Amino acid sequence: MIASAPGKIILFGEHAVVYGRHAVVSAINLRCRVAVRKSAKFLIRSSLGESGLDYQRYPYVVQAVKRFAELKEVPGAKIEIESEIPVGSGLGSSAAVTVATIAALNAEFDGGMDKEGIFQMAKQVEIDVQGRASGIDPFISTFGGSWLFPERRKVKLPFKFFVINFGSRSTAEMVAKVAKLRERHPEVVEKIFDAIDAISLEASDVGSAERLEELIAMNQSLLRAIGVSNPEIDRTIAELERRGLKAKITGAGGGGCIFGLFKGEKPGESFIVEPEKEGVRIEE
Ligand code: PMV
Repeated sequence: MIASAPGKIILFGEHAVVYGRHAVVSAINLRCRVAVRKSAKFLIRSSLGESGLDYQRYPYVVQAVKRFAELKEVPGAKIEIESEIPVGSGLGSSAAVTVATIAALNAEFDGGMDKEGIFQMAKQVEIDVQGRASGIDPFISTFGGSWLFPERRKVKLPFKFFVINFGSRSTAEMVAKVAKLRERHPEVVEKIFDAIDAISLEASDVGSAERLEELIAMNQSLLRAIGVSNPEIDRTIAELERRGLKAKITGAGGGGCIFGLFKGEKPGESFIVEPEKEGVRIEE
């Protein structure tokens, strides 16, 4: 069976969401497709190469197989992955491959899970692999749409976004960096999280592009304050501002992607994404 799951863009609230604050997140129109066929042994194939159950190369896929095998016996499987989502850049590539792998295993081996079951298993896999996590990525990849998280309230996002990719980095490292800063300055960092929380709540009800851009700029400044921007990103965002465009990091930062509202002008290095309604689905 083949399953596909979308990537995502966190509009507001990354990092603060790990500490119980709100985030606004949307699925995007880039997908990861995973084909799973019953087989005598295990084989995983993607543009990263071919292997057996190699955790170093495919941590999310291997852990997904292990967790699924606790539900249903899997003697072997041929797993083929194709993804339109840039890897390790904050657009939810890891969650999309995890969710699509679990959904394809579920369909191929009659696991009997509904979407909630797939989400819960994918969330467990994310925690297994990267430690502390809010579950926001597997949630959005499973259910699609645009949401205020964690209470699962749908939000309207009648916008397209430009995205610029600064290359891959480790989410776990950035999450650990913020955790350390919070240990050193708990009073200050908690108040920054509160401000980010207020931004997410206000953004979940905003219809105007102008107000949303103000919130984008404020959220970026707060992300910079907690140490997850970098000089290259700061320079690019300043240049975009001179051209009247606001942008912020999406996801863990320290590299990865920045985004802003697409208003008809596409900045040089960028690509355009739009909100996606559908979450994980069986393709055949
Ligand atoms: O993996 P990323 O870059 O999409 O980051 C996930 C968002 C964080 O808030 C940084 C971590 C989390 O688990 O919510």
